[in-house]
Amino acid sequence: MDFNQVLQDRRSVKNFKSQEIPQDKIDSILNAARLAPSWGNKQCWKFVLVKNYETRKNISNALLNENSARMGVEQAPLTVIVCAEPEKSSEVNNQQYYLVDSAIAMDHLILAAQNEGLGTCWVGQFDERRIKEMLHIPEEYRVVALTPVGIPNETPDTEAKRDINEIAYSDSWGNYLH
Ligand SMILES: Cc1cc2nc3c(=O)[nH]c(=O)nc-3n(C[C@H](O)[C@H](O)[C@H](O)COP(=O)(O)O)c2cc1C
Repeated sequence: MDFNQVLQDRRSVKNFKSQEIPQDKIDSILNAARLAPSWGNKQCWKFVLVKNYETRKNISNALLNENSARMGVEQAPLTVIVCAEPEKSSEVNNQQYYLVDSAIAMDHLILAAQNEGLGTCWVGQFDERRIKEMLHIPEEYRVVALTPVGIPNETPDTEAKRDINEIAYSDSWGNYLH
C-alpha cells in the first residue's frame, strides 16, 4: 500500500473480528518492529505475542480505568506486548530512551499492521505488575505498551488532527510556515 495512505488510514481500532491472522503477516509486522532505530542500536526491546484466549482475557482485565480498548484485546486473535530493558538503553537530558526506542519499534509494528490490513490500538494504561506476572516477564524489563492486532470490525471516526501550521514553525519558534 502507498505509504501516505497507510499513515492517513491508521486509526485506533477497538472492535475486531476473531479471524486468525496468517503467519506471514505476523512475521511482516515483527520484521518492521525489528528494523526500528534505537539508541546506540541497542535494540533494548522484546515482544511477547499472545494468542491464547484465556491469557488475552486476563490481559484485558489488567487494563485500567474502564479502558475502552478492553473489548478489543479480548476479541482480536493476537495481542503484542512491547517490553524494554532500560539498562540497555540510555538517559539523556533526563529523558528515558528505552521509552523512545520501544515506542518507535511499536509504531513501526502498528504502521506495518495497517499496511497488512490489520487494525491495532496502542494501549498504555494497564497494571504492569499483573501483566509481568502473568507473562513471566523478567524484573529488569518494563512493559511499555501493548496492542491488539486483528481484522477491524469497525471503521473508527477520524480523530481531529492539528493542522501543520499549529504544530510546526520555520527557523524559529513562533514563525509560521505559511
Ligand atoms: C502513549 C499512548 C497511550 C494510549 N493508551 C490508550 C489506552 O490505554 N486505551 C485506549 O483505548 N487508547 C489508548 N491510546 C490510543 C489513543 O487514544 C489514540 O491514539 C488517540 O485517541 C488518537 O486516535 P487515533 O489513534 O485513531 O489517531 C493511546 C495512545 C498512545 C500514543
